[in-house]
Amino acid sequence: EHNKWKSFLGICIINILFFVLMLAYRNWHPDYTSMPIYNKLKISKASHSITPIKDSQHFMVSAFIDHRLDGTIRVISIIDRHNLQPLYCAYCTIEHDCKEAETDVWIHSDHFGFPFHVSDVICKGKHVQDATRVLISTKPSLDNETHQYLPIQNRVISETFKFNFTVCISNLFGDYNNVLQYAQTIEMYKLLGVQRVVIYNTSCGPDLEKLLKHYEREGIVEIVPWPIDTFLNPSPGWNFKEHKGDIHYYGQLTTLNECIYRHMYQSKYVLLNDIDEIIVPYKYANLPSLMKNLQDEHPNVGVFLIENHIFPKTQFEDSGRFKRPEWRNISGINIMEHIYREPARKNVFNPKKMIVNPRMVEQTSVHSSLKNFGETYHVPFDVCRIVHVRVPLQGHLTKEQLAVDKKVWDFEQELVPNVDKALESSGLLRPNS
Ligand SMILES: *[C@@H]1O[C@H](CO)[C@@H](O)[C@H](O)[C@H]1NC(C)=O
Ligand SMILES: *[C@@H]1O[C@H](CO)[C@@H](O)[C@H](O)[C@H]1NC(C)=O
Ligand SMILES: *[C@@H]1O[C@H](CO)[C@@H](O)[C@H](O)[C@H]1NC(C)=O
Ligand SMILES: *[C@@H]1O[C@H](CO)[C@@H](O)[C@H](O)[C@H]1NC(C)=O
Repeated sequence: EHNKWKSFLGICIINILFFVLMLAYRNWHPDYTSMPIYNKLKISKASHSITPIKDSQHFMVSAFIDHRLDGTIRVISIIDRHNLQPLYCAYCTIEHDCKEAETDVWIHSDHFGFPFHVSDVICKGKHVQDATRVLISTKPSLDNETHQYLPIQNRVISETFKFNFTVCISNLFGDYNNVLQYAQTIEMYKLLGVQRVVIYNTSCGPDLEKLLKHYEREGIVEIVPWPIDTFLNPSPGWNFKEHKGDIHYYGQLTTLNECIYRHMYQSKYVLLNDIDEIIVPYKYANLPSLMKNLQDEHPNVGVFLIENHIFPKTQFEDSGRFKRPEWRNISGINIMEHIYREPARKNVFNPKKMIVNPRMVEQTSVHSSLKNFGETYHVPFDVCRIVHVRVPLQGHLTKEQLAVDKKVWDFEQELVPNVDKALESSGLLRPNS
């Protein structure tokens, strides 16, 4: 009896080992693929966040199941609007069972005249639930060359989230080295209840590189490589007529949409803003209590619009209490010295930024959502607003004509030592100096 059990267990263990090894082999090798017994299609995993679509000018970026659209596959892509052609998708299961289908291409409406623009390539295949990877091609059936595929994300709906608040910072580029403002902003967000800051990195300055490496080690920052300049001539501006280039503002509209899908089942809320902007609750102590109250009052809202307010970096606070010697040698703007706010102008559009429930957004722009499932709510100025320290928009105004707004000072006690610690850990400030 005892021996029977032993051999039974032995067989079980051997079987389990066999399966584990088989799974390991598969996970290990999806990069070569081609299991010719099943299918002669050769695919390899895309190695960049931007992957050229063969025999076209277009690029694919990332792929997601959209459970709101009947579980269809959406491939966020960058499409050359002037060279449209039919596109096809090939999607495969983990067993390398592949199918091909036609696609719909939805070019987002906010292209501002640029030839390349973010688009959703929607795979019209049936029974896509088991697919784990997908690629877009210009031919209805693939040749025997090797093709690069994207892993399919968001395959499972989650009702619980790893993060409550994620900030999506679009596009870091050039030799941007505004370290002090970056550190102050990230530390402010931590105090306000944010657990994750996502940064799409094309390039950055040397000191900011050190700070970001520190935050990446700490776990708050997620860096997504964004080598858009190796594929296209990205525009530094938002309007094709004025700024030229292939694609709007280093591909900002692609990264914002990518970020929403990437965090759809990871984060309860997503904040879409630039790094020089802090979405600050004024009526509540932090983002969790702000959003609890707003969401209780407006249960069907998925897009919350927050007013942007300019704090000119040219106007300094008089007492000099935050002109700290520790920060003298740190490059960048010290937001705590800039407490003067420009008045809102009648007849001038105030471009807002957003806090969204990502599961209620289908396509986003910078200042509004293009397609969403719920309602939109304009959050009043006294409840929450953006503190945006930058070059003035109304530079002719004197200090006396600006409003004093010291909200950031409320966080002084924790903010100042936290910023120092971050700078020290980054090797930008000597400890106890
Ligand atoms: C692909 O197919 C063509 C002919 O259809 C053949 O000449 C070529 O050798 C094949 N290439 C590979 C890598 O199998
Ligand atoms: C998110 O908020 C909930 C409810 O307020 C809380 O229980 C949970 O710990 C928070 N999660 C994180 C990651 O902070
Ligand atoms: C940002 O991208 C540049 C260019 O690829 C790279 O050299 C740098 O290390 C990246 N920075 C971070 C913090 O990942
Ligand atoms: C200021 O920074 C420079 C270069 O980053 C460094 O060599 C110097 O020691 C720093 N000075 C102080 C007082 O921290």
